[in-house]
Amino acid sequence: AASLGGLLPATALAQKKIVLGFSQVGAESEWRTANTESIKASAKEAGIELKFSDAQQKQENQIKAIRSFIAQKVDVIAFSPVVESGWETVLREAKAAKIPVVLTDRSVNTKDDSLYVTFMGSDFVEEGRKAGRWLVEKMKDQKGEVNIVELQGTVGSAPAIDRKKGFEEIIKADPKFKILRSQTGDFTRAKGKEVMEAFLKADGKKINVLYAHNDDMAIGAIQAIEEAGLKPAKDITIISIDAVKGAFEAMIAGKLNVSVECSPLLGPQLMSAVKDIKAGKQLPKRIVTEETIFPMEVAAKEFPNRKY
Ligand code: AHR
Repeated sequence: AASLGGLLPATALAQKKIVLGFSQVGAESEWRTANTESIKASAKEAGIELKFSDAQQKQENQIKAIRSFIAQKVDVIAFSPVVESGWETVLREAKAAKIPVVLTDRSVNTKDDSLYVTFMGSDFVEEGRKAGRWLVEKMKDQKGEVNIVELQGTVGSAPAIDRKKGFEEIIKADPKFKILRSQTGDFTRAKGKEVMEAFLKADGKKINVLYAHNDDMAIGAIQAIEEAGLKPAKDITIISIDAVKGAFEAMIAGKLNVSVECSPLLGPQLMSAVKDIKAGKQLPKRIVTEETIFPMEVAAKEFPNRKY
C-alpha cells in the first residue's frame, strides 16, 4: 500500500480508531448505570475506542480525568458534569490542546460557549414543570393546603437546580401549594430514605406530597414511609423523575404515583456526534431529548416497552 508521510500504510491510517475520553459522574442511581451501559455499548458498536473514567460524584476527579485525556491526546472528550460551575479552566486547557468537548446529560454554566461543541440531554426545567403540572391537575379539587416535601438531587448539579425551578414555577400560581421542607438526597436511595425519615419525624402526617428529583430517592423514601406506618402513593402522593424500571415496579405495586421521563440512553447520539465532529461536520449547540410522563395508571401496560 502507498505510504502517507512514510510512517504508516494508507489503509492503517484510514482504519485508525477514533479515541473518546468520557468522564462519568459516578454510579449513584439506576439512571446513571443505564447511561454508562448505553455509552459503553454504543462505543463498541460504533468502533470507537472508549477511555472511561468514573468520578464517584466528585468534580475534582472529573477535572483530573479530563486533564489525563488531554495528556493522552484523545480525539474527543465528553463528560457529564457533576455540578454546573467551576469548569472554565479545564475547558480552556482542552480548547488550547484543540480537543473538542461534548457535554452529555448535564450542562455547565459558562458564558463562553466556544468551550464545548454541543450539549445533548434532557430539558430539566421542563421535567420539573411536568411534575408540577401533574400535581396541580391531581389536586385541582383540593381546598386546603397541600404540604410538599422535596428531595433534591446533588447540590449544585444542573438537574437539582432546574427541576426545583421548573416545579416551583408551576406550583407558585396557587398559594395552597407549600413546600414545607427541601433537602438534598444526593440522587441516591440510601440518602433519599434517610432524609425522608427526618422529614417524617419533623412533620409526620402533615406531609401530603413528596417531590423527589429522581426515582432512586423516591424508592428510598417509600421504604421510610412504609416503616413509619404510612401508605406510599395513598397517604402521601409521590412524584419522581427518570422513569427507570424500578419506578415502574413501584408504580405497578401502587407505591409511586407518577414518574417524569428522563432518558439515559444517550450513547448512540454521542457516538454519532463524535463521528460528525471528526468528519468536520457542524453540530447544533443544543440537542434536546424528547420525553414524556408516566402516571401509575399506565405503568403495567408500558413496562414491557421500557429499555432502562
Ligand atoms: O443528570 C441526570 C440525573 O442524574 C438523573 O435524574 C439521576 O437519577 C442521575 O443520578
